[in-house]
Amino acid sequence: MAPLAKLVLACLMIFLSLTLTRNSEASSGGIATYWGQYTEEAEGSLAEICKTKNYSYINIAFLNQFGSGQPLGLNISGHCNVCDGNSLSSCVRFGKDIEICQSMGVKILLSLGGPYETYSLSSESDAEDVANQLWETYLKDNVYDGIDFHIENGAPLYYDYLARSLKKYGNDNNKTVYLSAAPRCLYPDLYLGRAIYTGLFDFVWVQFFNTSSACQYDSTTGDDVLMISWNAWTTLIEAPGKLFLGVPASSDVSGYIPPDAMNHKILPEINETSKYGGVMVWNSYYDLISDFSSSIIEYV
Ligand SMILES: *[C@@H]1O[C@H](CO)[C@@H](O)[C@H](O)[C@H]1NC(C)=O
Ligand SMILES: *[C@@H]1O[C@H](CO)[C@@H](O)[C@H](O)[C@H]1NC(C)=O
Ligand SMILES: *[C@@H]1O[C@H](CO)[C@@H](O)[C@H](O)[C@H]1NC(C)=O
Ligand SMILES: *[C@@H]1O[C@H](CO)[C@@H](O)[C@H](O)[C@H]1NC(C)=O
Ligand SMILES: *[C@@H]1O[C@H](CO)[C@@H](O)[C@H](O)[C@H]1NC(C)=O
Repeated sequence: MAPLAKLVLACLMIFLSLTLTRNSEASSGGIATYWGQYTEEAEGSLAEICKTKNYSYINIAFLNQFGSGQPLGLNISGHCNVCDGNSLSSCVRFGKDIEICQSMGVKILLSLGGPYETYSLSSESDAEDVANQLWETYLKDNVYDGIDFHIENGAPLYYDYLARSLKKYGNDNNKTVYLSAAPRCLYPDLYLGRAIYTGLFDFVWVQFFNTSSACQYDSTTGDDVLMISWNAWTTLIEAPGKLFLGVPASSDVSGYIPPDAMNHKILPEINETSKYGGVMVWNSYYDLISDFSSSIIEYV
């Protein structure tokens, strides 16, 4: 074959393989959710929700006690009635569920914070101590894939030190410690702005709900404000983070976007941004009731 023909053929094959991959994988993003704040009867076990295959990332909510010298306290009491809050050995089945999820390719992150008043970092060294506690209890032996920052109370300081310190434990031990953050949509976020500015976060699921009408979807005025806000986040966020649109799975929560608007208006637009990572659905309990994820998953 003539060199030019070979070149044309090669280009054609590359082009074809690219378009084929694109088509066979209609969706380019993943769905993240939060699990752990309801009873086992209400929201199902962790393994059950992983087996739906609707989710790529699950945040275990919440590790709601940490900082200022406190022992870590995990509150998934609706699931583990013998759980002492810290050791997974008293939550044996839960630990197994995490392994089942991971074997299916779902990343499991431990979510710090939530709507509680029982956490706060008091200094740089306090942040480093908390990183050490998290490393020793939850990360060193590969239990969790990473840590989610869902901070909405307490002092807004030192979360950047916590992020740096957690990444350093990972780097020093050849383990990837994923970091994610759930800031509210007004930019920059009071609690997480500084931490995100370190550029260390792998996933940022912005909460475009239950917050300000200045940045979330509005059922009467539509998506103008939401899109302006999304574009601000994509422009301003530090690499290497992937950005997720955080939306409620329940129409009772402000900022709710009906699946039809998600699929035909919003997702086809935001999926073109280079930092697009997918959608965060708040939360797995609402999702079970509304089946929101199932109705958007093909478009995510
Ligand atoms: C754990 O979470 C439940 C449900 O949100 C809450 O009622 C309870 O006060 C929390 N317990 C602690 C010790 O934080
Ligand atoms: C991490 O990996 C490097 C290079 O592969 C190796 O030299 C080092 O000993 C490893 N460190 C640990 C803590 O495993
Ligand atoms: C909305 O935010 C408030 C705190 O600002 C919190 O207490 C409440 O649980 C949130 N509601 C939902 C549905 O997320
Ligand atoms: C974005 O979504 C549209 C509509 O679902 C799809 O045609 C397009 O290929 C998607 N873009 C990317 C980059 O995945
Ligand atoms: C999502 O999960 C629900 C169960 O909660 C299931 O009925 C549905 O088939 C799942 N959707 C997909 C696309 O896997």
